[in-house]
Amino acid sequence: MYTETPPCASGVHRRDLLKATVVGTALTSAAGHLEAATPPATEKGRPQMLPVTLVVNGRANRLTLDSRTTLLDAMRNDLGLTGSKKGCDHGQCGACTVLVGGKRTLSCLTLAAMVREPVTTIEGLAGADGTLHPMQQAFIDQDAFQCGYCTPGQILSAVACVDEGHVRDADEIREYMSGNLCRCAAYPHIVAAIEQAARQMQKA
Ligand code: FES
Ligand code: FES
Repeated sequence: MYTETPPCASGVHRRDLLKATVVGTALTSAAGHLEAATPPATEKGRPQMLPVTLVVNGRANRLTLDSRTTLLDAMRNDLGLTGSKKGCDHGQCGACTVLVGGKRTLSCLTLAAMVREPVTTIEGLAGADGTLHPMQQAFIDQDAFQCGYCTPGQILSAVACVDEGHVRDADEIREYMSGNLCRCAAYPHIVAAIEQAARQMQKA
C-alpha cells in the first residue's frame, strides 16, 4: 500500500514532486543526475549556425542553432522545456524520448536541424484545460515511479506503445517498452499504468 512520506527539509512532499514530474513542470531535478550542456564550438573552426524552426507542443519556435545541436539540447537549453531528461546522451536509456510526428524518438540522437514534424514533449501532453493525459493519470494512480527521472520518457514511449497497438499483454508491453530504462526498477507499476491507460485510450 502507498504511504505518504513526510516533507523533506524544503517542505516539498515526495508525491507533489513526482506529480510535477508527470506533467513536466520544474520541480524535477531530485535525482541529482548530471546534465551536460550543448557542446562548445570546435577549436579549429567556427560552428555552423543554422536557422531552425521547431514546432513543439503546437508552438512554432524560430531559432538559430549550431548545426550539431541535438533536439534534446535545443528543447532544454533554448526553449526551456526541461521535462525531457538527459540520461546517457547515447541512445541507450530512453530518458530523452519525445514524440516526433507521433512516433517515439530519442531526442539525444536527433539533430534539431533535421526535425520537420511536430514535436510533443511531456509539457504538451495534457489537455489545454490542464486535464492530464490518461497515461499521466495512470502513472500517478499506479505509483509508477520513484525518483521520476525516467518518467517523462516512459510516459511518451508508453503513449506511442498504445498507439502502435503493442499492448496485448504484459509481456508485449515489457518488450516494446524495453528501450526505456528505470534505475529505480518501477517496471511492474509502469506495466500496470500502461494497461490502465490503454483501456481508456482504446475506448476513446
Ligand atoms: Fe537519450 Fe539516454 S538520453 S537515450
Ligand atoms: Fe527512478 Fe525510473 S523512477 S529511474
